[in-house]
Formats: sequence, C-alpha cells, structure tokens
Amino acid sequence: MADNREENIFPKIISHAKEYGFIFPSSDIYDGLQAVYDYGPNGIALKNNIKTYWWKAMTQLNENIVGIDSAIFMHPKVWKASGHVDAFNDPLVDNKDSKKRYRADVLLEDHVAKLQSKIDKEVTKAKKRFGESFDEAQFVSTNPRVLKYKEKIEEVESRMKKALEDEDMEALKKLIEDCEIVCPISGSRNWTEVRQFNLMFSTEVGSVAESANKIYLRPETAQGIFINFLNVLHSSRKKVPFGIAQIGKAFRNEIVARQFIFRMREFEQMEMQFFVRPGEEMKWYEHWKEQRLNWHKALGFREEAYKFHDHLKTAHYANAAVDIEYQFPFGFKELEGIHSRTDFDLKSHEELSGKKLQYFDPEENRNYTPYVIETSIGLDRMFLATLCESYTCEKVQDGGKEKERVYLKIPPVFAPFKAAVFPLVRKEGLPEKAQEVMDALKFDFEVAYEEKESIGKRYTRQDLIGTPYCFTVDHQTLEDNTVTVRERDTTNQQRLSIEEIHSWISQRVSFSSILKKV
Ligand code: GAP
Repeated sequence: MADNREENIFPKIISHAKEYGFIFPSSDIYDGLQAVYDYGPNGIALKNNIKTYWWKAMTQLNENIVGIDSAIFMHPKVWKASGHVDAFNDPLVDNKDSKKRYRADVLLEDHVAKLQSKIDKEVTKAKKRFGESFDEAQFVSTNPRVLKYKEKIEEVESRMKKALEDEDMEALKKLIEDCEIVCPISGSRNWTEVRQFNLMFSTEVGSVAESANKIYLRPETAQGIFINFLNVLHSSRKKVPFGIAQIGKAFRNEIVARQFIFRMREFEQMEMQFFVRPGEEMKWYEHWKEQRLNWHKALGFREEAYKFHDHLKTAHYANAAVDIEYQFPFGFKELEGIHSRTDFDLKSHEELSGKKLQYFDPEENRNYTPYVIETSIGLDRMFLATLCESYTCEKVQDGGKEKERVYLKIPPVFAPFKAAVFPLVRKEGLPEKAQEVMDALKFDFEVAYEEKESIGKRYTRQDLIGTPYCFTVDHQTLEDNTVTVRERDTTNQQRLSIEEIHSWISQRVSFSSILKKV
C-alpha cells in the first residue's frame, strides 16, 4: 500500500484526483468555491461503491438494522431540541496581522502534533544510534527530553479539555499565548479574543418575507433518524436493540476548510443510530467500536493506518465518544466517530414536540426512552482515505532504465471499473471477439472497453484509475477461446478461458467476499 507518510504526496493525490475524473473543485470555471467539491465519473463510481459497502454491512448483515432517507430540511425546532442552535459552535480566533481566521482548538491540536513529532524524531535518532539493542518502550519512558515533551502534551491537552468543557474562551486564548503559537502566515502572536461561532447554515422557507420561516440545512443526518424513531418503530415492528441507518448530505459552515475533501462545507455522512436498553449502552458501545474497526480492516489497508482516539471533550449529547483515526498524509485524523448519545436526543424531542418517544419493552414489561449508540462516518473522508491508501508510486525497471509507475491500488470491490477489455489490434476479428467478452461481463460488472493505442498505454490508463484486471483478446483467443488477464498490482499475466472469466472476476470483486470479513 502507499506510504502515506512520504512528503509531498498529498498535492500529487489531489492533482491525480482531478486529472483522472475523481474530484473537481466546485464551480471550477469560476475559480472554485472554497471547501465545496464535485465528483467526476470515476469519483461517483468509487463513492457509490463505498456507500454500498457501508449500507450492506449495516442493513444486510444485521437483521435488526433498517434504513431510511429523511429530508435535508427539518422543522426548526429539531435543531433547538438537538442543542445545535445553542451549542454547535467552534471557538474562533483571528490573527490581527494576517487577518486569517483559525479554530482555537485546531491551533492547539497542531501544536500538540508538533510536540509529538519531536518525540518521534528523538526515537528515530536513538534507533539509529543503538541499532538492534534499542528498546523503544524503555527509551520513551526514561529519556529526559521525551519526558519533557510528554509532560507538555499532557498539560496542553488537559488545559484545553477543561477550557472547552467550561466554554471558557479566555482560558483558550491564554493557552494559545502560553504555548507561544504563531500564525503560520504572518508568524506573529497578535491574536484576537476567542469567540464562539455557530456552524449551521440557515435559509428561509415561504414565499413572502413576512411569513417566511428560518430553517437550517442539517449539519448531521442523525436528527432525521431521531424524529422518525416512532414511525420506524411502528412500521417495521422492530424490538430494542435495533438500529436505523441513513446516508445523506450534511452542511456545516466550517471556518477553517482545508485539506481538500477532508473538511468540506457540503459533505455526506453515513450514520447509524442503535437504540438499546438503558444501562446496556456501554456493552453496545464496545460492540460497535469493534464492528466498525472490522469494517475498515476488511478492506485490507495498512493495519497501522488506524487507531482509536478517545475524545478529550464529548459533544453536548454524549457520555462516551471515540474516533477511528486514519493516518492521512497530513497525520492521524478523525475518519469516523462512535458516540454513546444516551437518551439525550429522544428526550429533548419528546419535551419540545410533546410526543411520547418511548418504547414498551415486553420482556421488562415497562416503557422507557432507549439509549443510543451512534456510528458516524464521513463518506467523503472515507473516499479520501481510500484514495490516499491506494495512490501508489513505485520505481520499476523498463528496458534497463528506472522509471516511476503510478497506479491506484483501490480495493477491487471499490474500483470504478472492475475490469477492462482490449482487443490486441483493431482488425482481424479481434474487436468482435472482445465484444463477446464484454457481453459476458457487462450485465454484472462495470467494464471498460478500449481499442486505441498500444496495449502498454491502455494498461497504464487503467492503472491510473485503479482498474484491477485487464483482459486482452489476441490471435490465440480466436483459436482456443482464452484471453490474457493482467493484474494491476503485480502486473502478472495468465491465460483464462472466456467461460471462466465471469466466475473468476466475481470471486475477486463481489461485495460478498469482503462482507464475509466484517
Ligand atoms: N452525528 C454525529 C456527528 O455528526 P461528527 O463527529 O461531527 O459527528 C461525523 O461527524 C463524521 O462526519 C466525522 O467523523 C467525519 O468523518 C464527517 N465530517 C464531519 N464534518 C465534516 C466536514 N466538514 N467535511 C467532511 N466530513 C465531515
């Protein structure tokens, strides 16, 4: 898999994504719109495959999880009840010299990451010095410089946690000053006060200004699930524990939108709310932590690319929260969140709507408000993780010369095209025979057909968009009905009979092969 820690790989991934039809800046002809992106022909195919994998893993593998698709617009009271009107804020700070705006917590997290990288450098240096006999655990627990950095990290993290929990903006500003954090643009420490900023976009419904109602574009899909709790419960006759899954757009007026599609203003979430008996939530929290990590690991990405990160500060609705972090080229960052949301949302909606949002448990013979475990993954972030993990740049020998081979090692189940079919030449009956191969595959798999240019160039083009298998029809095909299959990752070739290729490819690209590993 790609070494995502290679320096400068991220800009290459971004330009690859545009050049090969995965992601374009939105409104590109007008020079783009910040933090908004469009998906191209290969991008939407990859995105749809990620969605299908998630949807099947939730609703097909779990008899007690059903799906919904709720509207983006909801009654304004939804966001009052959920706490988003009052508490969905980011702490902002401006640098007076560069006029650039930052999230105070992000500045502090970046500062912690810098301290951590100093520890990593000390470890690398010591490894070199001591060679085989190096004991990393002992080194990090005894080396005075490492201990000093660790102590600093602990201090910053605990002060930040307290300031965020107390919503103490002055304490955040003081911490930024004490850490001597400088603006990356101006290099100065000339900061404004830290202020809270609400992230929801609002608009109006209603044709006449006087009767218009302020409504919000949903900042998370989860509330669409909570407000449909009763509808789903009654129509699907599910019993607690059960879950409701949903994939859909969410909107946040992110202040610091950066790192390509990592932080967008319009993005998609794949969320599942699992309703459980009060008191059993921690058991289910652990269950879903493990399940969700398995879902990621089944893709075969680097094991060490994932880690859990417990939240320093839980959101206003949660009593436990953890992130699954993925090692992006710019460091370990949140890919998915798993939250124990207690009965906060159902209770608040009950209060504000006046409707009883409870469940009658026949085994316990009582009514209660279920507790909720939520799993929430950003589809675009998962897309970015897939792209980063797949982007591979290798040195290969070509006629005695060393050259670079770039390809996308996308898991076959996610690849925009599962295979490509090429006639070796555009004559002598080979295109017609290649069409036969297309006909054998196209009803079940996305297959590309190419007959222009040399076979080598056609392989390269498919490598660049991540097509895992290429079938070439040559003169031998006309004699024995076999084709060559060339595998993207190894570039190995073998012959297969045309009758075999449907089942051969099916074993390698079907969702069932990966779902069995979850
Ligand atoms: N319902 C819970 C919730 O929305 P969150 O941690 O704010 O929790 C869940 O978001 C996931 O949505 C994140 O782990 C991330 O993958 C994705 N996400 C959040 N904000 C995003 C943004 N601005 N751009 C892209 N993805 C985002």
